[in-house]
Amino acid sequence: MRLQNCHNFHDFRRLAKRRLPGPIFNYIDGAADDEVTYRRNTTSFESCDLLPSVLRGVSTVDMSVTVMGQKLAMPVYCSPTALQRLFHHQGERAVAAAAGKYGTMFGVSSLGTVSLEEARKISKGPQVYQFYFHKDRGLNREMMARAKQAGVEVMMLTVDSITGGNRERDKRTGFAIPFKLNLAGMAQFAMKPAWAINYFTHESFKLPQLDSHVDMGGGTMSISRYFTDMLDPSMTWDDVAEMVKHWGGQFCLKGIMTAEDARRAVDIGCTGIVLSNHGGRQLDGSRSGFDQLAEIVDAVGDKIDVIMDGGVQRGTHVLKALSLGAKAVGVGRYYLFPLAAAGQAGVERALEQMKVEIERGMKLMGCTTVDQLSRANLRFR
Ligand code: FNR
Repeated sequence: MRLQNCHNFHDFRRLAKRRLPGPIFNYIDGAADDEVTYRRNTTSFESCDLLPSVLRGVSTVDMSVTVMGQKLAMPVYCSPTALQRLFHHQGERAVAAAAGKYGTMFGVSSLGTVSLEEARKISKGPQVYQFYFHKDRGLNREMMARAKQAGVEVMMLTVDSITGGNRERDKRTGFAIPFKLNLAGMAQFAMKPAWAINYFTHESFKLPQLDSHVDMGGGTMSISRYFTDMLDPSMTWDDVAEMVKHWGGQFCLKGIMTAEDARRAVDIGCTGIVLSNHGGRQLDGSRSGFDQLAEIVDAVGDKIDVIMDGGVQRGTHVLKALSLGAKAVGVGRYYLFPLAAAGQAGVERALEQMKVEIERGMKLMGCTTVDQLSRANLRFR
């Protein structure tokens, strides 16, 4: 299969699977425990149907939205994900460039393989910097200072990962950073020469946000130890309130699931929340962002920008989320598989398809702007 033959998420996933060594494919594709939440994230969009209106004069469509003060040309942004240069040597550079080209936001992860400064220079769209809460408060402040200096528009604190999720696929393959492959895992790498050539002919990658703390090659600390040793499970709302104040700009909490927590995010001055279960990778059995969206929008939708992610694979998924009151949606694997399959060209093709699907969907729904989408357009089963 070639890039030109990829017409949807499943095609990109198949192509990525063909190119990536099994342990890396399963790191992206996998989730926690029995992966119930992962599956539910996408199927939850089937719990309601769209009700189209007709004869509304829809020759031109404007799908732009404003989220946390940022004008986005489309209501979908590239959610922060770790280790992108492991999937394709272009990694975050490709995603930052593609997102900028499509006028949307890109989130660089603190476990990203390109520095937030470099990503900021590449991306023409607004940039999110995603980080975790460290025991070392000095490191937290240092990261915010770097982000401010680089011109990052939105700080995003991920709050659902106070400990790592139970990723059993990674245990089976031996996937870890630094690599600790078992024999079966090594054999799977040997079977994917195209990936190996791409990987070994480009400069080896590091984690520039956490360079002196987490090592990629057997030095200071593995990623799993990073989670257990460096992140602070005693973090409370007071700690985050202090950070929000210290940052003094757009600040978003990623991984909020309850109305009570959403209200607290408003109270401490956050300007956005991402309703997310981390793509099913943390607490298996947790509710999907889409299933929980109406409750959160009803609680705080008039006070804070509500974004959702998890399982978004189609323009119609985006239309359903916006109809329920989300300001925008985030995607993870939707752009990671195309990245793994074909680098920047893959991410651009996926974003183009998403844009075309949203535009077609809006026309078929009888809407010319996203604010015309409402719950009147939905019926739950
Ligand atoms: C993630 N996600 C994530 N989130 C975050 O806050 N920091 C991170 O470093 C990562 N890393 C990461 C790696 C991989 C391989 C995946 C698949 C996901 C979660 C991500 O931002 C987003 O919440 C989910 O990916 C959304 O679900 P979908 O779109 O992948 O179904």
